[in-house]
Amino acid sequence: MAKQEKQAIDVDRVDKIVARHASREGALLPVLKEVQDLVGYLPEEALKRVALGLGLSLSRVYGVATFYSLFYTTPKGKYVVRVCESAPCHVQGAPEVIAAIERELGVPFGETTPDGRFTLEMVSCLGVCGVAPAVMVEDRVYGNLTPETVIAVLQEYR
Ligand code: FES
Repeated sequence: MAKQEKQAIDVDRVDKIVARHASREGALLPVLKEVQDLVGYLPEEALKRVALGLGLSLSRVYGVATFYSLFYTTPKGKYVVRVCESAPCHVQGAPEVIAAIERELGVPFGETTPDGRFTLEMVSCLGVCGVAPAVMVEDRVYGNLTPETVIAVLQEYR
């Protein structure tokens, strides 16, 4: 795993987010989303503040933060590259596209490049199976990829 710098969090702002939602049913997900938007990810210190503020156990908060793929408990790169590994993409050449991305960026899926620019994630479907194999960079989807065209896509974000 790429070495990541530990970042201090603004505890007061985290506590304010928690306080704003504390009385509501089902506050945990929106609180985690807002805290992640504030900090960039969900470090343990932030999860502790959320647990304390909502009166939940840390293990419950941590469990939710690690269950949903939209949450990150480690810092992520500036750009998140998501690749679909499900059957329709697999048979259309996703393994070759995945290998090309790992070769180009020098890190395996699940990790972040040492320069903090890209985080690589596998997902089960991007909802664009008709243009498999597909990759999503941030909110933008690219389909019908080959090992060559996916490198051109990455160059747009260099
Ligand atoms: S299976 Fe790959 S996008 Fe749906």
